[in-house]
Amino acid sequence: MRVVILDSEQEVSQRAANLICELVGSKPDAVLGLATGGTPLGTYRELVDRCQTGQISFSTTTTFNLDEYVGLDADHPQSYRSFMRQNLFEPGDFNFDRCHLPAGCSRDLSQACQSYEAEIVDAGGIDLQLLGIGTDGHIAFNEPGSSLASRTRVKALTEQTRTDNARFFDSLDQVPTLAITMGIGSILDARHIVLLAMGAGKASAVRAFVEGPITAQVPASALQLHPRVTVLLDQAAASWLVRRDYYQHVENIQRQLEQSEEPA
Ligand code: F6R
Repeated sequence: MRVVILDSEQEVSQRAANLICELVGSKPDAVLGLATGGTPLGTYRELVDRCQTGQISFSTTTTFNLDEYVGLDADHPQSYRSFMRQNLFEPGDFNFDRCHLPAGCSRDLSQACQSYEAEIVDAGGIDLQLLGIGTDGHIAFNEPGSSLASRTRVKALTEQTRTDNARFFDSLDQVPTLAITMGIGSILDARHIVLLAMGAGKASAVRAFVEGPITAQVPASALQLHPRVTVLLDQAAASWLVRRDYYQHVENIQRQLEQSEEPA
C-alpha cells in the first residue's frame, strides 16, 4: 500500500485528479470505478474544471459506480445516478451511455447484480477504482462483516451508515435501508485502487484498515491484499497512524526516484 499524507483536503483531491487524468490521458477509453459521498466531491470539481478548460476529455471513458440505493428512482435527487450526473457526468463531457450504476429500482435485484458484474467484465475490468471509506471501515456499502470475497449484491445498511448519510436527505427516515453494492471481491479485481480519506472523523477507520489485521470487521482492510493501492490522506485523517513518519519517509524516497526517472 502506498500511503501518501498531504497537507490539505484540496491537495488530496488534486492528487486523485492527477492520477485519473494521467490514466485517461494515456488511455482515453479507460474504465473508471467511481464513488459518491462527500469525499470525492473535490476530485470531481477538479476533473470538471480540467475538462471545461480543455485539459482532458472523458468522452470515451467508461465508468462504473460502486453502489446505488435500492428503491429510489434513477431521477430521485438523492439517487447516486443523480449525484453523479450533477457533480461529474453533466458538467464534464462524459457520454452517459458509457456511465453505469447498479439498477437499484430493478424488479429483479439479484439479476441486476449479476448483470452489473458481467458488464464490468465485458468492459475489460476496471483500470482505476476510486474509493472513500465509511467511519466504520466500510468500502462501497460493504458493511462490517461482509465477506472479503463478496461480489455485487444487495446489502442492508447499518444504522451508522444511514445516520452518516442522513445529511443528504431531509430526515433519517428517508434514507433507504438497502443498497446494491459492488462486493469486496469485485473491488479487488480493479487494477489500481485509490482510496481517499479526509478529516478527523476518518482517522480511526484509516488506522484500522492500514495498520490493523485483515478482518471482515474492517472491510477496507482487505485492500492490504491488493498489489496496487494508493491511499491519499490529509493530515487529520492520517493523525492516528502509528507509522506515519515512515510512510512520509518512503514517500519522499519514492518521489525522488520518480523525479530521477523523468526525462531531462
Ligand atoms: C459511496 C460509497 C461509500 C462512501 C463512504 C464515505 O459510493 O461507496 O462507501 O465512500 O460511505 O462517505 P463520505 O465520502 O460521504 O464520507
